[in-house]
Amino acid sequence: MTRIFSGVKPTGHLTLGNYLGAIRGWAEVDQHRSDSVFCVVDLHALTVDHDPARVRRLSRQAATLLLASGIDPDRSVLFVQSHVDEHARLSYLLECVASDGEMRRMIQYKEKAPVEQARGGSVRLSLLTYPVLMAADILAYGADEVPVGDDQTQHVELTRDLAARFNQRYGQTFTLPRATRPEVAARVMDLQDPTSKMGKSHESGAGIVYLLDEPDVVRKKIMRAVTDSGSEVVYDRGTRPGVSNLLEILAACEGGNPEGLSGVYESYGALKRDTADAVVELLRPVRERHRELVRDSAYVEGVLRTGAERAREMSRPTVDAAYRAIGLLPPAPAPADVVPVNMAR
Ligand code: AMP
Ligand code: TRP
Repeated sequence: MTRIFSGVKPTGHLTLGNYLGAIRGWAEVDQHRSDSVFCVVDLHALTVDHDPARVRRLSRQAATLLLASGIDPDRSVLFVQSHVDEHARLSYLLECVASDGEMRRMIQYKEKAPVEQARGGSVRLSLLTYPVLMAADILAYGADEVPVGDDQTQHVELTRDLAARFNQRYGQTFTLPRATRPEVAARVMDLQDPTSKMGKSHESGAGIVYLLDEPDVVRKKIMRAVTDSGSEVVYDRGTRPGVSNLLEILAACEGGNPEGLSGVYESYGALKRDTADAVVELLRPVRERHRELVRDSAYVEGVLRTGAERAREMSRPTVDAAYRAIGLLPPAPAPADVVPVNMAR
């Protein structure tokens, strides 16, 4: 059976981009057709300036929202990355296979490093090495497929390169994964700046729909979305980024394609109203289920505990095999006939 691994970073409140680009597909499609592992990748949230209490809060919230979105713990493994040591263990080995030039070529690093530099004067080393940890996340589980939004394709390609290099040097150890992405809405754009991605950590939230926004807030944000000069409602990402983004969001909500909606609307206003209605309805069940789950934190904690146990069992053999393959001396097993001192009586 196909093994799937994917994750979400607790660096901010989850957005409509996260939902349409990744989470909805995990819940509605992926977990029903494959052996799925989903992770709140909290170690990745430490690569930029962070507030410890906020990361803890957002990690719990992200896990709760994944459950609210329909990730079913009887079908999928759901856990928090830092609860399973194998990720960090494997990451170091992969650092010994990756090159610094390769890391510096990552688009996300090139975009984020100058922002961090301007903000705090220095860039955390982990921001540079982050794709290696992501590769470890994926390879530890022998994932065949990694369902992600558009922005993560390069990182999954790097993962594949590292896996192939490791296998070639040290013997067959890792499965080569490939990225998969939704046909529609693989890159949802900011409503106020439709040439940049809707990202959860933008300064102003006006162009970002959060999964937990109240319906009237969602409506307001969509009605105020920046559109383009001209008045025809046509799908053309290059010349009509604002309208095309709305068409894409609406199509994703309705299960159609944005080209099919091109020319259907007479005005921007009508398109915005329908998009707002569709998004509010799409998110309603998620918000309602989230509200119930928040009251049952023991349930969520139980899911994460069991998830981490299963994740450990799944990842340990592969990570151990990588340790042996790369040349690290295995610890000698305790002799079976020697009873540990504290158990001698
Ligand atoms: P992150 O929030 O960076 O942890 O992303 C979690 C998942 O959501 C990844 O698969 C991303 O590619 C996806 N994602 C994040 N933002 C967007 C967006 N604006 N449009 C589509 N997918 C997105
Ligand atoms: N880097 C991903 C993001 O920013 C999050 C992530 C970390 C991830 N490890 C992963 C996604 C493994 C898929 C598989 O969205």
